[in-house]
Amino acid sequence: MDATRLRRAIARTPLAPVAAFPGRLARVARYDAKVLRTSARWLATSREHHNYTYELTRLSREHLTWFVSVVCDVPVARVRGYLAEIAGDAALRRHIEQATARSARRGLADRRVRYARRVGWYAIVRATRPAHVVETGTDKGLGSCVLAAALLRNAAEGHPGRLTSLDVNPEAGYLARSAPWADVTDLVVGDSVAAIAALDRPVDLFLHDSDHSHDHERREFDAVEPKLAPGAVLLTDNVTTTGVLAEHAERTGRRFLAYRETPLDHWYPGDGIGVAW
Ligand SMILES: C[S@@+](CC[C@H](N)C(=O)[O-])C[C@H]1O[C@@H](n2cnc3c(N)ncnc32)[C@H](O)[C@@H]1O
Repeated sequence: MDATRLRRAIARTPLAPVAAFPGRLARVARYDAKVLRTSARWLATSREHHNYTYELTRLSREHLTWFVSVVCDVPVARVRGYLAEIAGDAALRRHIEQATARSARRGLADRRVRYARRVGWYAIVRATRPAHVVETGTDKGLGSCVLAAALLRNAAEGHPGRLTSLDVNPEAGYLARSAPWADVTDLVVGDSVAAIAALDRPVDLFLHDSDHSHDHERREFDAVEPKLAPGAVLLTDNVTTTGVLAEHAERTGRRFLAYRETPLDHWYPGDGIGVAW
């Protein structure tokens, strides 16, 4: 009996799982060894303890490009241009490097500037040219700087806009306190739900990235709904964890899509961008 016929004969017997075990073990061990190698390298080379930064894999960046193209209804080539624009923004990169090196939290930050899925936020702002962007959860201000950089480019093309970034932590946003990014950014300290209720201008683009509990995310989308301009776009950074924005989209008659990022050379499985429009 040849090897193939023998394998097929065994597959029909109760011995099949035992015979398959060594191959299955080898496959899962190869996968886990890769995760362990990546984790060990990260422990040795990175200082970050939360809100990790990394590059996206090439394929993940390509999927993000198409995601933005479909959501914003703009040609994919134009979105590629936006991604090239933020990747080539040397002034922003230099500013983040220098401000990080000076900051009180420099011991817990990496020097290399990596935007991960935030380049998708950049492209969405470039494509939709919002007059008022609201981000909940400022943290260091990395996302704020990326959003502000897109607003500055829009302004240079005749479409000015401002960013309001909200955080409970008064020390948040140290990256977003320098010109020219600070010129289009208002940092607001306080609980995001209360701060959203106090907004006095319509919101064209809203991004949830603060307290990622299900209830807080839901309260933010409920609070911002009466503040939205016609045709506003809603984003969540929490889409790999909750279905809050999808449910909100269904309740309010919007479309919904989700993108899941794949980090390059990182143990973290990545987050994503949920969008309702
Ligand atoms: C994931 S970080 C934000 C990351 C940031 N958007 C970026 O692009 O790097 C979450 C932030 O939300 C803030 N936060 C937590 N609960 C909040 C609340 N109830 N209201 C406002 N901000 C809150 C935290 O202080 C923290 O800085």
